[in-house]
Amino acid sequence: MKRRTLLLASAVALMPAAVFAADLTVGFSQIGSESGWRAAETSVAKLEAEKRGITLKFADAQQKQENQIKAIRSFIAQGVDGIFIAPVVATGWDEVLEEAKDADIPVLLLDRKVDASDDLYLTSVTSDTVYEGKVAGEWLAEAVGGAECNIVELQGTTGSSPAIDRKNGFEQGIAGSDNLKIVRSQTGDFTRSQGKVVMESFLKAEGGENICALYAHNDDMAVGAIQAIKEAGLKPGEDILVVAIDAVPDAHLAIANGEMNATIELTPNMAGPAYDALEKYLADGTMPPKWIQTESRLFTASDDNNAIYEEKKQLGY
Ligand code: AHR
Repeated sequence: MKRRTLLLASAVALMPAAVFAADLTVGFSQIGSESGWRAAETSVAKLEAEKRGITLKFADAQQKQENQIKAIRSFIAQGVDGIFIAPVVATGWDEVLEEAKDADIPVLLLDRKVDASDDLYLTSVTSDTVYEGKVAGEWLAEAVGGAECNIVELQGTTGSSPAIDRKNGFEQGIAGSDNLKIVRSQTGDFTRSQGKVVMESFLKAEGGENICALYAHNDDMAVGAIQAIKEAGLKPGEDILVVAIDAVPDAHLAIANGEMNATIELTPNMAGPAYDALEKYLADGTMPPKWIQTESRLFTASDDNNAIYEEKKQLGY
């Protein structure tokens, strides 16, 4: 049921409108399944829909923006009550967002931002991705102290908001430490396999002994890179410090095993707050804030990473 219809009905009846979650159909345009974190986000979105009696129409875009745009147009044609989008890149969304707006279908962004006017979507549920990078940089600066440190960086998908923000945030985090220098920076597309391939090229180009730390924009790339470091005969976590983002179970395991040093948690529960916001909006027009910020938390070797691994491994990662 559309909000416009609802408001009209309530005005006529002079009674507050009410939409029950069980009546709702939500279309979710997901990026794909590039990382363990993404798989968990998808699982949570499906579970939360089931718990609330919401019908979820799910479309996997296989990392392609054109597939996302097609899926969104199909959701509009089907007249869903709300559209969730995890946008693969930040630009190129204006036209399809206008189409959703013209159809009076609220759009909610999940985990990534878009470069478009904020009146084209209802809200965006994301972490502070600049802050995540800053925490990683500050952690590394502190861990290294005054020593000279050449850093290699594995960036996320080119043009995606977390890749842009996590790079900027990290540079802010190390800005006060002239002894820290990023010597190589390249995309690993947020995947484990590319993380490994690109790390192999970094090790070859720089020589493993000249690299003091790896900063990866997500844990999957870090886990792939850890494999490359081991295959090069070096000890990840010792010879090369490793810091990344997401806090997926495998990162906790790597920290517990001494092969990784720190990770910043990104909750996979983006859909829960989005369903809450959509339900309230459709029920009585409550406008959510434009940004619903999720928490970011640093995990290091001082946490009980074995226990956290055990807890998290059931969560759909
Ligand atoms: O947008 C969130 C990022 O996308 C996650 O950190 C990464 O794992 C994913 O692919």
